[in-house]
Amino acid sequence: MDIASPTAVVCGAGGFIGGHLVKSLIAQGIRVIRAIDIKRMEEWHQIADGVENLSLDLKEKEHCLTATEGADHVYQLAADMGGMGFIEKNKALCMLNVLTNTNMLLAACETGVKRLFYASSACVYNETRQTRPDVVALKECDAYPAMPENGYGWEKLFSERMCQNFEEDFGLTCRIARYHNVYGPYGTWRGGREKVPAAICRKIIEAKRSGRHEINIWGDGHQTRSFMFIDDCVQGTQMIMNSNIDEPINLGSSEMVCINQLVDIVEEIAGIRLKRTYDLKAPKGVNGRNSDNTMILDRLRWEPSIRLRDGIEKTYRWIESQIALSDGAI
Ligand code: NAD
Ligand code: GDD
Repeated sequence: MDIASPTAVVCGAGGFIGGHLVKSLIAQGIRVIRAIDIKRMEEWHQIADGVENLSLDLKEKEHCLTATEGADHVYQLAADMGGMGFIEKNKALCMLNVLTNTNMLLAACETGVKRLFYASSACVYNETRQTRPDVVALKECDAYPAMPENGYGWEKLFSERMCQNFEEDFGLTCRIARYHNVYGPYGTWRGGREKVPAAICRKIIEAKRSGRHEINIWGDGHQTRSFMFIDDCVQGTQMIMNSNIDEPINLGSSEMVCINQLVDIVEEIAGIRLKRTYDLKAPKGVNGRNSDNTMILDRLRWEPSIRLRDGIEKTYRWIESQIALSDGAI
């Protein structure tokens, strides 16, 4: 094996972050030998040339063996997931991601993978620390004692643990990032799995096109989040993968806004002001969430820094182009 140039496999490559990651690795000269997703190729968000692109269900161990064969580095991003609208109503499906993570770890050991990256989530954090919009930013230690988001968050926390146990007992080097709400071009923007940045862009573009000057927002609009632009996510993922950080670490922006402020930003980009209505029965999740970046600054001397306004502008323009392409067929 050429240590200086490890071969890489990306799982979940037909999705948002995985698709960007494949392109970024290739652009840096990394040999991406394989990209895997359960979806049919026509449904992949992006497809890279010069890579073996495979549609495989990684819940099956034999498919994980096929996926990891010949790989030095495996990026495990495959998961059935989405924004609050999806994870609140599909807890069992989210829990079933444990099959993918279990079989990927077993296969990685069998095929001699050197290093595995696991995409965890801020949803692992204890809910009792996220009850107020003016939340104290979440430090890595705030995941315990455990009381994560029902379904999706419990599975992520369990799989983090499993990665750490595989490293301790079987010597498989694992790197674990807790992503905080990631957004950008090629992210899901319709269909029920979209997260709030894309959802608000879509709703405002639709309102503008239809002349209906109203927007419906889930919750009361005071709930807070931080949002990480995809370029920061992809860079941070590779930095964490190549680091010696052997415990879960936050990968998120620390620029916290409430949902009403997010809507302000999108309205300003769109050049429109809309009447706001609030759906207090819609999926809401925690009242406040932000990333404490002390650990990542200490270990990598780096943190996500792309301003929300700048990332939303790019995301808004991309969704606008997608809506124009589908010509109102939403
Ligand atoms: P995504 O849904 O766009 O991509 C995930 C991909 O995994 C999808 O294309 C899906 O088809 C694929 N997949 C699901 N089950 C599979 C299976 N059994 N076999 C093969 N492929 C399978 O989501 P994303 O935003 O790109 O997220 C990537 C990873 O990051 C996920 O693990 C997700 O849980 C995690 N994450 C994302 C965010 C975020 O804000 N986007 C936040 C926290 C964690
Ligand atoms: N999705 C969505 N759509 N959310 C909306 C909308 C809308 O039209 N309007 C307001 N919101 C509110 C939600 O009610 C929630 O309070 C907040 O915006 C954020 O919602 P999401 O972006 O859907 O999810 P999240 O931030 O609670 O969780 C996401 O990020 C996690 C990591 O930080 C999810 O994608 C998780 O899967 C992910 O792990």
